[in-house]
Amino acid sequence: MKLTAKKALVTGASGGIGQAIVAKLQEQGAVVCATDITLNDSPADFNIEGDLTDDSFCDSLVSQASKKMGGLDILVNNAGLMRRGIITDASDEDFALSMAVNVEAPFRLCRAAIPVMEKAGGGAIVNTSSCWGIHPGPGHPIYIMTKAAIASLTQCLGRDHAHQNIRVNAVCPNEVDTPMLRTGFEIRGLDAESGIEELNKSVPLGRIASADDIADVVLFLASDDSRYMCGSLVEVSGGKAVA
Ligand SMILES: NC(=O)c1ccc[n+]([C@@H]2O[C@H](COP(=O)([O-])OP(=O)(O)OC[C@H]3O[C@@H](n4cnc5c(N)ncnc54)[C@H](O)[C@@H]3O)[C@@H](O)[C@H]2O)c1
Repeated sequence: MKLTAKKALVTGASGGIGQAIVAKLQEQGAVVCATDITLNDSPADFNIEGDLTDDSFCDSLVSQASKKMGGLDILVNNAGLMRRGIITDASDEDFALSMAVNVEAPFRLCRAAIPVMEKAGGGAIVNTSSCWGIHPGPGHPIYIMTKAAIASLTQCLGRDHAHQNIRVNAVCPNEVDTPMLRTGFEIRGLDAESGIEELNKSVPLGRIASADDIADVVLFLASDDSRYMCGSLVEVSGGKAVA
């Protein structure tokens, strides 16, 4: 097992990719503390419910989780949300909420986790950006901007904290079959199954990603298998370019 006795905090643990990450970390022997707004039947070793837009919750989360687990070796900033539409359709709330969950929460959690990891001799942080954060696509400027921000933060922290043996990297998925993607079809009054079938045809590998496809890359970035990677943005796209 690659992560025996490692202690991992995972945000967005109730979501499509989050559930797969928790399962993969546990399969590899990690002790996992899950967090999300609601955690129903979470299989994690420890669970902390809370809203990442609440600054005081966010600022105390790393110490709460470390206390429960007896330390912190891995932080997975996976929680995220997507507000759709062009800028002229965007509200102040779309902007503020997207920034709070996708950028400010990872900033606060990285800031709190790095000193804890440093004291323990090192650690790994895996952020969640997107292929769209690297190659902007159409019609989602706010989401894409937040994913570009977390990509940039990852590159900066990867460089700044390598000397403390803290590796910071990001997974950058293209389309993944999760509630986030499916609600996009549903909001437009389309059937998610047929929407996904159409999307599958646009991917050179023949299908969009499953949550497990992404969780396996998170596991790699969290483990010593990626021991020489710092500040990397790992695209997981099935060969599909952002159009
Ligand atoms: N699904 C995709 O196609 C895709 C593609 C690229 C990147 N991503 C990224 O992957 C990550 C996981 O997405 P997913 O597809 O599993 O989506 P999801 O909607 O299934 O899961 C996201 C989770 O984040 C949690 N969350 C949102 N706001 C929160 C808040 N204020 N406080 C606490 N938790 C909150 C939600 O409750 C949810 O459980 C996100 O960062 C997303 O941007 C997804």
